[in-house]
Amino acid sequence: MSLVIKNLDAPLGAEISGRDLSKPIAPNEVKTIEDVWRERLVVVFHDQKLSDPQLIAFSKNFGELDPPGPNPYGESFLKDHPELNVISNVVENGKPIGNLGDGEAVWHADMTYVEVPPKAAMLHSLEVPPPEAGGNTYFANMLAAYEALPAELKEAAKDKIAVHDASTNSAGMLRKGYKAVKDVRETVGAHHPLIRTEPTTGRKALFLGRRPNAYVLGLEVSKSEALLDALWAHATQPRFTLCHRWKAGDLLMWNNLSVLHRRDPFDPKTRRVMHRSQIKGNERIH
Ligand SMILES: [Fe+2]
Repeated sequence: MSLVIKNLDAPLGAEISGRDLSKPIAPNEVKTIEDVWRERLVVVFHDQKLSDPQLIAFSKNFGELDPPGPNPYGESFLKDHPELNVISNVVENGKPIGNLGDGEAVWHADMTYVEVPPKAAMLHSLEVPPPEAGGNTYFANMLAAYEALPAELKEAAKDKIAVHDASTNSAGMLRKGYKAVKDVRETVGAHHPLIRTEPTTGRKALFLGRRPNAYVLGLEVSKSEALLDALWAHATQPRFTLCHRWKAGDLLMWNNLSVLHRRDPFDPKTRRVMHRSQIKGNERIH
């Protein structure tokens, strides 16, 4: 059976069906998925059930795996597969089995605090709370956000470099080995331009990373805060976003360098378990 592609009714996102991803996929199918991923930025597959080795095998079709960043607990969640991450609120024997808890994960792109951030991320839901319990994930299209940016903000962001904070994860927890940031001029993390040009297509996108502890180099702190607040308010408007309501068996693959994502909090009495991989990037942001 061949892949069936359906664009979602949103400014980004497409659903691909017709394929059991636990089985090896052919090179022409890899290319189709990659093309949809490049154009629609978020690819949604439903009704999948991949073991960890199968998730790794599927992910490797798109490049080398990029292991997760340091989590607050200082050890990988899957001893046998440290290249995978676990996103979960479940605690077993007094120990969290995964990252990010049950609170909100604020808007961010993954690991932009490193020089060459991952280009793609995969998230496979194994257990999810009932729909009314929360935990939806949102994606925002940074190509569309850049295109719609008012001229004065485009000008203000042009040629500016920002520091992307490495100290906390998207749930606001301090990573092991980092100190809390008290002055944004001392934030530790990679430096990237606020506007990124896609090397293959020449398209421009806003490249914001994450808001907490960000700082635009060379500006007074108050000016940096004002510019970042204006860019973030613009970039995360509903007109640029897609809301994904999870079902168990979903597998999402997104373009980490051209979207932001965030997660709603959810009922702590429910279980949410997801396994995750990411694909190494091959570009310095410019
Ligand atoms: Fe994330």
